[in-house]
Amino acid sequence: MESIIKLLKSHTSIRKFKKQPIEESLLLSLIEAGQSAATSSFLQGTTVIRIQNMETRGKIADLCGGQTYVGSAAEFLVFCADLKRSKSCCNKHKVEFNGDYTEQFIIATVDVALMAQSMVAAAESCGIGICYIGAIRNDPQKITELLNIPKHVYPVFGLCLGYPDQAPEVKPRLPLEVVLKNEVYEDLEDNALIEDYDSKIEEYYGERSGGGHGTPWTAQIAGLLSTKSRPHMRAFLAKQGFNFK
Ligand SMILES: Cc1cc2nc3c(=O)[nH]c(=O)nc-3n(C[C@H](O)[C@H](O)[C@H](O)COP(=O)(O)O)c2cc1C
Repeated sequence: MESIIKLLKSHTSIRKFKKQPIEESLLLSLIEAGQSAATSSFLQGTTVIRIQNMETRGKIADLCGGQTYVGSAAEFLVFCADLKRSKSCCNKHKVEFNGDYTEQFIIATVDVALMAQSMVAAAESCGIGICYIGAIRNDPQKITELLNIPKHVYPVFGLCLGYPDQAPEVKPRLPLEVVLKNEVYEDLEDNALIEDYDSKIEEYYGERSGGGHGTPWTAQIAGLLSTKSRPHMRAFLAKQGFNFK
């Protein structure tokens, strides 16, 4: 048990991989391990698309703003939220398909994340490194066309897998006192704790880049949340049949 906790706490995203392939039976077994994650209402709303064609990988890397590890990872998987299978169940049983509710979108998306993260933990326990690629949502329409993704399915993120050719320092997370609340949402003044954390992250990035100071965590998040993040997503999802009713 303790070793699983240790493993999870030692996670770092890997962006440089060895050429060594992942044995086929191991890869399939990791995906199956992911499938064993809990799934809301037994929906099993995840489809995984394995991309082995290097030309397709290159196109995806370009669409992800030139993230070359999409091409250099031993494996690249696209995790999709899939309500198409659920629609088929409705068709088979001759009932109306109500898959365009916000709730269904949440259920399917949560399912994808749980399956992926279980698979990731299994992979890391075998010495395989991973990097999630949310940048496939930079241009989800092009990804959808490239991978022939049908209506009621959308690509949530990609996942690079391979044997690590780097050993980054573990990126410190927020202090537990900031994240964990007791009984109700205590709106505590966490400023001092967050200040400390900012310094820790500044130091972390400074050391990672070989000296100097990195960007504090609050500055990173302020930068992220002050930009209009992928504003195309709502229209794209509506087109795919996720209508947020
Ligand atoms: C859903 C998701 C999408 C992500 N997308 C990208 C991405 O497109 N490119 C990338 O290099 N890292 C990506 N990451 C990795 C995060 O940047 C990384 O997990 C975070 O900075 C914490 O670092 P760590 O994983 O090394 O602890 C993504 C992570 C998640 C969970």
